[in-house]
Amino acid sequence: MATTPGAPAEQRDHEAARERIEALRGEIHAHDYRYYIEAQPVIGDSQYDALMQELRALEERFPDLVSPDSPTQRVAGTPAEAFPVVEHREPMLSLSNVFNRDELLAWRQRMARLLERDELRYVCEPKIDGLAISLIYEGGRFVRGATRGDGMRGEEITANLRTIRSIPLVLNADPATLPAAFEVRGEIYMSKGEFARLNAERAAAGDQLYMNPRNTAAGSLRQLDPQKTAARRLDLFAYQLGWVEGERPLDAHHDAIRWLRELGFPTNPHTEAFERIEDVAAFCEAWVDRRDALDYDIDGVVVKVDDFAAQRALGVVGREPRWATAWKFPAEQAVTRLREIQVSVGRTGVLTPFAALEPVFVGGVTVSMATLHNADHLRELDIRAGDYVIVQRAGDVIPQVVGPVLARREDGLVPFEMPSHCPVCGTEVAKDPEEAAYYCPNRTCPVKVARQIEHFASRGAMDLEGFGEERSAMLVERGFVSSVADLYRLPDRRADLLEVDKIGEKTLDTLFAGLERSKQQPLHRLLIALGIRHVGGETARALARHFGSMPALRAATVEEIEAVDGVGPIVAEAVRAHLDDPAYAAVIDDLASLGLRMDEEIAARGGVLDGLSIVVTGSLERWSRNQVEDLIKSLGGKVSGAVSKKTSFVVAGNGGGSKRDKAETLGVEILDQSAFVARLAELGWADQT
Ligand code: IVH
Repeated sequence: MATTPGAPAEQRDHEAARERIEALRGEIHAHDYRYYIEAQPVIGDSQYDALMQELRALEERFPDLVSPDSPTQRVAGTPAEAFPVVEHREPMLSLSNVFNRDELLAWRQRMARLLERDELRYVCEPKIDGLAISLIYEGGRFVRGATRGDGMRGEEITANLRTIRSIPLVLNADPATLPAAFEVRGEIYMSKGEFARLNAERAAAGDQLYMNPRNTAAGSLRQLDPQKTAARRLDLFAYQLGWVEGERPLDAHHDAIRWLRELGFPTNPHTEAFERIEDVAAFCEAWVDRRDALDYDIDGVVVKVDDFAAQRALGVVGREPRWATAWKFPAEQAVTRLREIQVSVGRTGVLTPFAALEPVFVGGVTVSMATLHNADHLRELDIRAGDYVIVQRAGDVIPQVVGPVLARREDGLVPFEMPSHCPVCGTEVAKDPEEAAYYCPNRTCPVKVARQIEHFASRGAMDLEGFGEERSAMLVERGFVSSVADLYRLPDRRADLLEVDKIGEKTLDTLFAGLERSKQQPLHRLLIALGIRHVGGETARALARHFGSMPALRAATVEEIEAVDGVGPIVAEAVRAHLDDPAYAAVIDDLASLGLRMDEEIAARGGVLDGLSIVVTGSLERWSRNQVEDLIKSLGGKVSGAVSKKTSFVVAGNGGGSKRDKAETLGVEILDQSAFVARLAELGWADQT
């Protein structure tokens, strides 16, 4: 190790740490490259995590050695108020379009005429359906990144871009061999897999689903809090070398792409060069069918003239370069007959119209059902049962009905009307004025209850096996359960259950054992299972961590709930509304009395009132006596009925004479409600606002 023998120990430590830190960063960087660029990792996740862990520990010990391009700093940014606007040194252009072979040939003819030459070389790349960004590197390090914006000015989103693991923070080259500064352009996208994962999470939380990967990627990238960007996996394909300070090192686009790849940028593996325009056309056409096999959306093929000198000579018209064009795919649409408009009822009771179609092949799959969004959408477009309709696969995920083919409408078709009564239980339908949604207000509507049970039992929730769609529906239909709490009473109905087809002793033993086990699920699982609107895994975990127990959460005000990290006003309102709803409150009480655990980590939590003995006297305004006692217990405190020298403090409301006097005599601290709340806050309970 290169340390001076006589240097003080501290300095030697520092020097050793610096060397180790650099070695670790180099190693992690190399593994990132193997993982993200070459897709050939050579170590497992846990080994990788161990390297990160060691680096993090060293940086914690020597904070002066932290640098913004350390792999530990990908998620270190703090939330921004707004994004600063930055001017692009060179405008970020758009592309002209061609839709077929003839238009492609015409584009080529124009270039050949202007350049007065016939031979050109083309590079073709999938046109990624994401967001264009500009990345700036100085001395081989990522220093700044921005969105395309209007092409002239974009928003600086460096902190968010740092969270994207496939964006290299340090380049794979000796900085001395690189231009002092240069720009790389590329497309940020969300894979179809990541999009599906996110939506599954949202579905489980009862949240509205995202439309398509592109919009979701755009939303993620523009989060003011980089933590939020980091929570969703985004990716990059670099597709262009932008401005370069000093001499431009290369002569052609394909060289630039190869160079970018060597430096550590992910470039699209389906990039191909051609000499003949017919081959370009064949390549583009082939992608119409190949696109479905990709794990990301593409909306065409970009064709570029390879030679930089030719690019310069051709120049730009308006906002579009003459030297590149986008072969756009025809929209993936098909016409079929809408057999029937059906209405489904979800877990929250919302009625959703959907189309039962004569099966049709569109965008690589056979579609027989499609979303119609909501009743307003249906009415606006006047889609009628029996119509021929245009079906589209939006973002290649959820098929949707675009509209009717009016020219083919037959006589006698009537406009759609939302049923006035729930198609399942017959209860009169209500309308939510804010959400343009119709819903079944009946709490015991069998579909709703069955869906709630299914959700309650699902993997991220109480994790009960054997309560899938079919069995949940059966249990509700036959009157075994009318709320999730009834599940825990099923063991009392053993004999009746054995009468049911397909249920034997063994099945029941398994079901009941699962139920018994699930009573020990921590609070956050229960919160997920209850299906509170907007509360998915992450929110549930944050609430459980913060409040520690169901009674503490139930005693919290909207403001206190909103003060939890990651919980906004809408979520806080939804949580409060759920807990205040008498029917839901009864279910929670019921579950508690059936023996379900109502707190998070008992041992590890270390409640803020651990070891304290507290006496409550008089009446408080904010909590009932029971509530405040529950709260104290849930925070680890002991509630005692009498004041003694061992009493830590007395919480005194209005009234409460003798215990207050006793405390005064013994010199025990007395807190009124607001002092008590302030003390809890001091001890690290809810942030009081
Ligand atoms: S080249 C002047 N290459 O398409 C060159 N663009 O309609 C302009 N895009 O804003 C960009 N994949 O967001 C290029 N392989 C690719 C692309 C690509 C997607 C997007 C990009 C741009 C838009 C232009």
